[in-house]
Amino acid sequence: MSFLFHTTRPEETLALGAVIGARLTVGQVVGLDGPLAAGKTWIAKGIVQGIGRCDQALIKSPAYNLIHEYPLETAPWFICHMDFYRLPTLSPADALLFSEVLERTDAICLVEWASKFLGDLVPDYLSVTLAKTGTAGERTIQVKAHGASEQYVALARRIHADAHAPA
Ligand SMILES: Nc1ncnc2c1ncn2[C@@H]1O[C@H](COP(=O)(O)OP(=O)(O)O)[C@@H](O)[C@H]1O
Ligand SMILES: [Mg+2]
Repeated sequence: MSFLFHTTRPEETLALGAVIGARLTVGQVVGLDGPLAAGKTWIAKGIVQGIGRCDQALIKSPAYNLIHEYPLETAPWFICHMDFYRLPTLSPADALLFSEVLERTDAICLVEWASKFLGDLVPDYLSVTLAKTGTAGERTIQVKAHGASEQYVALARRIHADAHAPA
């Protein structure tokens, strides 16, 4: 089951990210996909805002460092922001490193360019795929459970309900 959302400005993508973030619980994994400049880092910023308070200046695309870790000011755990963009293949050493982070029970993981390798590392995650459509600012954003786990199906449903709830 998947849900489709439409945004026309970065701020709307940020707001949808905040709805997603507010529903996440520690230990969960979100995979972000879509072409360059689709808005993966924008929605990641929104997701971080929705999870809790942390230093927004820290949130940058981790394309060069592969993994960024943001401590939360409002909870005793972390957000791990990863990016597979620069990895042509997943070496055994990389797989070990990413698996260790993805299995952390004190973190929520956000992974850009997830479809490259995330399915090889974890069976289940929330998949968020952004596409540029129409004119400059239009994006369609698909939210769905990757894998068979009921927790991500339920999560996708809650996000859909929250995003369509009257303000
Ligand atoms: N509806 C929208 N949602 C997200 N970004 C948008 C939107 N419309 C225009 N943009 C622009 O697209 C770019 C998205 O950048 P970024 O989030 O870094 O992309 P990615 O991480 O997917 O490469 C930004 O320059 C942003 O201002
Ligand atoms: Mg990015």
